[in-house]
Amino acid sequence: MASAHNTSGKLLHPFAEPAKAEGEFINVVSAEGSTFTDDTGKTYIDGMASLWYCQVGHGRREIIDAITAQLNTLDAYNIFDPFTNDPARAVAELILEKSPFDDGRVFLGCSGSEAVDTALKIARLIQQRRGTGEKQIIIRRTHGYHGTNFGGTTAQGIVANREGWGDLVPHFVEVPNDNIEEMSKVFAEHGERIAAVISEPVQGAGGVWPPPDGYLQGIRRLCDQYDALFIADEVICGFGRTGSWFGSQTFGVMPDLITFAKGVSSGYQPLSGVIVNQPLVEELSEPGFLLRTGYTYSGHPAACAAGIANIKIIESEGLAERAKHIGHKTVEGFDALVADGTIKGYRGIGAVWAADIGRDSTPVKFDMLDRGVMARGVGEAIIWCPPLVVTDEQIATFIEVLEASLR
Ligand SMILES: Cc1ncc(COP(=O)(O)O)c(C=O)c1O
Repeated sequence: MASAHNTSGKLLHPFAEPAKAEGEFINVVSAEGSTFTDDTGKTYIDGMASLWYCQVGHGRREIIDAITAQLNTLDAYNIFDPFTNDPARAVAELILEKSPFDDGRVFLGCSGSEAVDTALKIARLIQQRRGTGEKQIIIRRTHGYHGTNFGGTTAQGIVANREGWGDLVPHFVEVPNDNIEEMSKVFAEHGERIAAVISEPVQGAGGVWPPPDGYLQGIRRLCDQYDALFIADEVICGFGRTGSWFGSQTFGVMPDLITFAKGVSSGYQPLSGVIVNQPLVEELSEPGFLLRTGYTYSGHPAACAAGIANIKIIESEGLAERAKHIGHKTVEGFDALVADGTIKGYRGIGAVWAADIGRDSTPVKFDMLDRGVMARGVGEAIIWCPPLVVTDEQIATFIEVLEASLR
């Protein structure tokens, strides 16, 4: 994909071949609603909400104005003790209110990876403080994706992403992603040493794998039985994607810690965090105890202002509910493609779906891009995770283009 401008090659792209020429990348110059446009003037349907994050669509004036107003008042100031700021307080309150927890506290960061590593640290911290120092094992699932910091890299169930970095974090044990019996066996064997289980409600980057029926409840039961903590990584599932504010609500399960990022701000500013359920907060509330973790930009006022404006849009436009409508329309299209043998099957929930095309998805994904639809390819799956404002016409176009590319 040649780009007309900006062919200087100084940028080291994430998840890309370092030697790939800068001119071969698609240079995105603007975006509006559920579309984006490159520097040749070609417009695409944003079938991945960029990278699973843009719930409210691009170019939302309310969010841009909120960020601008915030920067004009207080550009940035840290929230390490003794400081705080109004947008950080307000966004924490809003996020907690939408969460499945009755009470608790919200830690803030800038990326899903920061949220995951913080949640892993808090889980181990709680176990250390309970005097169960040997409880350090974190259970991860095959196909899980939890970001690229050292904790999240170790927590991933995607082998290729874990390789080549030298030694990772000790005491992680992997279980098959779809089998609660296998997890029970690991608990039976190592239960007294297990600190926590980390799981996405619906596994996203690993290929969109909804949990088998009762699976998340099974994790909850095992964690209760062995005094382990349940970390729900809701970086993709949070903020409406599965048809509720959080995937934990969609699947009716109560974790101890919830990580979020992406949809909390729809990406207008980097914002993430960890929601800590109240019983754990109480365990950490000993006078004189200091939580020795955090980031320079935790509680960044412009990011928090973006989060507040974004959450208000999701609420006022009923976008979590709308995710279900997107699901119905997508399934209608997929059913037709299954019926005529174009795809083998599909899986997903709300507004996050994978079509099983029964062959390598990479050439199909690029053909779709040529035809103006950005989808993602994982193995033999084409992934569809559009903004929650995607129109019925755009969903129909996605289905038509998928069919055309597969023919
Ligand atoms: C479930 C999950 N956790 C963590 C992350 C990492 O987020 P980030 O890329 O913002 O660090 C991702 C990113 O896709 C994710 O899907």
